[in-house]
Amino acid sequence: MTAFVLDQLDRLTFIREFAHDVSAGLSAEQKQLQPKYFYDRKGSELFEEICRQPEYYLTRAEASILRTYSPYIARVYGSVPSAIIELGSGSSAKTIILLQEFVKVQQRLYYFPIDISHSALQRALMALSDHLPAIKITGLSADYIGGIAKAGQLIAGEQISARMIVLFLGSSIGNFEPGEAESFLGIIAEKLSPGDLVLVGFDLHKNEKVLNAAYNDSAGITARFNLNILDRINRELGGEFETRHFRHFAFYNKNEKRIEMHLMSTCRQNVYIREAGRTFDFDRGETIHTEDSYKYTVRQIGQMAKQCGLKVERHFFDQNRMFDLAMFRKD
Ligand code: AVI
Repeated sequence: MTAFVLDQLDRLTFIREFAHDVSAGLSAEQKQLQPKYFYDRKGSELFEEICRQPEYYLTRAEASILRTYSPYIARVYGSVPSAIIELGSGSSAKTIILLQEFVKVQQRLYYFPIDISHSALQRALMALSDHLPAIKITGLSADYIGGIAKAGQLIAGEQISARMIVLFLGSSIGNFEPGEAESFLGIIAEKLSPGDLVLVGFDLHKNEKVLNAAYNDSAGITARFNLNILDRINRELGGEFETRHFRHFAFYNKNEKRIEMHLMSTCRQNVYIREAGRTFDFDRGETIHTEDSYKYTVRQIGQMAKQCGLKVERHFFDQNRMFDLAMFRKD
């Protein structure tokens, strides 16, 4: 097996972009920060911890789908050489379930985990090399589009002839606005050849109480995850946030069919950020909108696939129908 991480992001460029995005976001009428900035080393660790919280059903539901259906997926779709490209792979913990089934039926298996967090990728690669010595793994530390383009180049460069299977697990698609989600899926679809597959994890509509609890776990891990974005700005951009003057605020927005996460300023304050070169004012009770997590119906999922030129091959559900792992095929 080969396992290495290619770093796509130059540190200086990253800091410049981060400072620009933070400055623009905190200057908006409704202050906001992009959720991709949650995932530094600490944020990735906290996210892994969220996934283990009893209230956060998403990870368990998706893992149970993978445990139930991976043998079937590998048998039906894994009999030809396959290149599995995973967007936002994190710890790859759930993916191992699928990969283990693929190696049973296919000798030539390539895995390209793509994640914005270099440290998460390195940890994942170490775990994977223990579990799956037979797979050729290339980790790509990049954003989704940069990573998928790089994986495509590597596949073409090495003249790998394999069916591409793109994985986008964990309901990460829910963190896009629905229109953006559709465009993003469309970009992926354009990069595929007929017969290639996309497996996307969608969180389904459900009882509001269950949703609110999932994003307000009693151990306070989601709150720490949310607040860590301010610590990150302090660490990397010379920000002067006092995190004790902000509190985690997450709720289900019924009209928009999404969980919204915010950080609420508990007092009137101003915060200087060196790399932004300015101070930002906060009123008491004013919020920074940090994330949306959209919930879907099966019908909406089918419509989205159709708009992107993808065919729904199958929906895989968990026992309680909390989550849909939707398989799309490029025609
Ligand atoms: C990564 N993403 C799918 C998670 C979600 O559920 O939207 C991020 C998260 N935010 C708070 N808890 C988990």
